[in-house]
Parts: sequence; structure tokens; C-alpha cells
Amino acid sequence: MILIVDDDHSVLASMELLFKQHGRPSRGVRSAEEALTALEAGGCDLVIQDMNFSRETNGEEGLALLKRIRQRHPLLPVILITAWGNISLAVAGMKAGAADFITKPWSNAQITQAVETALRLVESGARGGPPNAVPDRAALDRQFDFSMITGEDPAMLRVLDLVGRVAPTNASVLISGESGTGKELIAEALHRNSPRRNQPFVKVNLGGISSSLFESEMFGHVKGAFTDAHHARQGRFELAHGGTIFLDEIGDLELGSQVKLLRILQDRTFEVLGSSDARAVDVRVISATNRDLTRLVDSGGFREDLLYRLNLISVRLPSLRERRGDIPPLVGRFLQRCAHRYGREPLRPTDSALRWLAERDWPGNVRQLEQTLERAVLVVRGECLNLDDLRLLAELETRPTVERSLPSPGSMTLDEMERAMITTCLAHYHGNVTRVAEVLGLSRGALYRRMERYGLHPAAS
Ligand SMILES: Nc1ncnc2c1ncn2[C@@H]1O[C@H](COP(=O)(O)OP(=O)(O)OP(=O)(O)O)[C@@H](O)[C@H]1O
Ligand SMILES: [Mg+2]
Repeated sequence: MILIVDDDHSVLASMELLFKQHGRPSRGVRSAEEALTALEAGGCDLVIQDMNFSRETNGEEGLALLKRIRQRHPLLPVILITAWGNISLAVAGMKAGAADFITKPWSNAQITQAVETALRLVESGARGGPPNAVPDRAALDRQFDFSMITGEDPAMLRVLDLVGRVAPTNASVLISGESGTGKELIAEALHRNSPRRNQPFVKVNLGGISSSLFESEMFGHVKGAFTDAHHARQGRFELAHGGTIFLDEIGDLELGSQVKLLRILQDRTFEVLGSSDARAVDVRVISATNRDLTRLVDSGGFREDLLYRLNLISVRLPSLRERRGDIPPLVGRFLQRCAHRYGREPLRPTDSALRWLAERDWPGNVRQLEQTLERAVLVVRGECLNLDDLRLLAELETRPTVERSLPSPGSMTLDEMERAMITTCLAHYHGNVTRVAEVLGLSRGALYRRMERYGLHPAAS
């Protein structure tokens, strides 16, 4: 049963009618006391409450009721109704544990969407906190398609468990994590495991959209809407209709654009630039950032109400350092993939190489690991990936001299590059010509000929 708490008769009547149409029993009450009594009687699955009953209290009454409900029935979802102008109240409510908020005036679609999502999240256990037991990868794979994601470390298994629980709902999900931790991969997994999987998945990099282009990009424009609008253009939200929109780098969105985004997230309607009729869209919103949005809110760079709109559920991806158990299987995956790509047998890492890989800090996370291995496959000739090879690659990544030896187009000839590469390798392998020849994929003779041509000597390098 859904309990509706509002002092306004007409609100109660229209909501009760709405839920009846959707086959959900509901009951309306007009005060906080009545609400608490009704809850004690049991049988309630969700509460929708206004923030003021009988008196205008700036919402204190509503907040007090919310807090009492949270104390007595911590798992019961509560959806707040607030006025547009009083969004800070909604934010305070979300902090006090509300499941969601709806602003006046609302549409029926918004209410039913919010109610269904909140109920499904409770059902799935996604809001009950992290599970105590570490989920089992095989069990997750039986239920979901996570084939693109390597994850065996407990920290990652917990993430996948949460992703599985929220994927089938319409809840907006905010994915946070350092660069290269797999945020985009998780966004795709959410879409692929949702009922929207056969509908569009539209990715937008908000970091690349200036506020002057934001509206036409996201909402589209009609022909002639502005000087350069020679053709009508569909916006990203419309393109994502029925599916999922992935708002990447959300922390880079300018403040002016944030309020426009909030509007559409609130109402799920938008106006095409140059036209005045509002269009409705049905999209599921997933966003991602590598910035700390809470801190950004504190410094005034991000709207708090938008944050709460975006993160009904938040998924934090651990850095690779926090899930080292994933490193060996990731190494296996990437070496296998490269072998396939270059049509050769997968390189076999030696134990010491694997240990070195597992112990590094990987500031660029999974992406950096992937790139390191890709380079290794291109450079190493034998069947094994040795510790020395990896050390050399790491050096190539960081040494400024090598940066100069892997130059931008036009700044160096191929001969100069070859010379620089051989010099670096000779230095790294302490003049061991046999090893250098192996690493560079040359015969010893071919290497000696080149060294002669460039005037290089093993000892002198
Ligand atoms: N768990 C994983 N299993 C397999 N591949 C992964 C995993 N995590 C990340 N990757 C790979 O690492 C690379 C980076 O991942 P992705 O683009 O999703 O990171 P990101 O968090 O979005 O990074 P950024 O913040 O820089 O945009 C991709 O090539 C992706 O396929
Ligand atoms: Mg990304």
C-alpha cells in the first residue's frame, strides 16, 4: 500500500485515482500524526509526503515527519513533494534519507516513475547498504551480462553486485572513480542489463560542450533557430528516447548548463531550440565523473540539487590499487586480446613480471595497465614477458629523453628515432647486445650493423 500524506484534499484525491489506475492500493492521510498511526498498522510499502501540513512551516513539519519515519521504518522509501522554488528543502530531505523528491507542479508520469523506481530499488536490495557476504562471480554471470568486465577482487564484485541490482530499474546512477577505472564500461553494463538494452545508448561528453552550444546539442534546434542553423537537428535527449543517455564528465559542466540539465531531469520534457512546444522524453540517465562532486558543491562549482537528481544510486569504482586481485586476470585478458589482434600466441608473463605488475600503483588505472601491455606485445619478440621488458617499457613511458625519441610527426627522422631507441635499449640492458636484439626484434647481426651505422658502442652507451 502507498501512503500519501498531504493536507490538500485535491492532491490526495488525484493521486489515489492515479494509483488506482495503475493497480496499486493507496491511502491518503492529512497529518503527520495520522501518517505515523497508519504506518504502525503495517502493510505500507512506500510514503509520498508533502513538506507542510495545515500550517506553512517552511517544510520543518515535513522534515520532522521524514526523520521519524526513517527512525521507525528505516527501509521504507519516502518520496518528498516540494515546490520548485524550495529545492534546498528537497536537498535537506535527501540528506535525511528520502528516496527521491518531486517538485510541484508534477506530471502523473513523474510520480509513477518515481514510485516504481523506489519500489524496485527496495525489492532489489540496492538501497539496503552493501551486502555483507562477497558476491560470487559465477552467480553474477548467471544472472547478468558482465562479459566485458574483468572483476574478481571483492571490491569489484561488490560493485558488480550493485550494478546488477540497479540495472533493471530506471534509477539515475552516478558513477565516480579515478580516470581509467572503467566508468564507461560500467555505464554500458547498466544499459545492457536493463530492459532498455535494445534501445539507443547515447554517450555525451559534457566536458566538451560549451554552455553556448549546450541547448542545441542536448535539445536540438529547428531550422533557422539561429544564424548557422541551416538544418533542423535532433538533440541528444531525443536521440536517446526509449533508451539511456550517458552524461560523461558531468563534473565539467558549466553552471549555466547545469540548471538547464536540471530542468529536463526534473520534468523529462524539453523545448527544441527555436520552437516553443514542450516535448516529452523517456530516458534513463547515467552520469560519470572523476571529480569529487561533493567537494565541487562545497566550492560552488556544482549545483547540489542536480547532484541529488543524478545520484539516486551512486556507484564508486575503486582504483586499481584498491583491487590488486584484479590485476592478474586483467593482464590475462589484455594479453589474450592483443594476441588475437596481432595474430600471434599470447605472451606469457613470468612470475616476477606478474608480481611487478601486481605491485605497481597504476595512477592511470586499468587504462594504463592495458596500454603498458599493448606496448609490450608490440616490442617483445619472444614468447615470455620478462621483468626486464617491463622495466624498459616503464622507463620508455617516463624518461624525458625517450619522450624526445618518440617525437611528434616531423620533428625527427626515422633514422634518428631508430638511433634513439637503440641507445635507450643498450643503456637499459647494460650493453647486453643479445637481449637488445631480442627486444627490438632484430638478429644480432642486424643490430650490430645498425650500431655501426649510428656509431654506437655497447660499452659506451
Ligand atoms: N574491469 C575491466 N575489465 C576489462 N577492461 C576494463 C575494465 N575496466 C576498464 N577497462 C578498460 O580500460 C579502459 C578504460 O576504461 P573506461 O574508458 O571505462 O574508463 P573511465 O573510468 O571512463 O576513464 P576516464 O575517466 O578517463 O574517462 C577501457 O579500454 C576499458 O575497456
Ligand atoms: Mg570515461
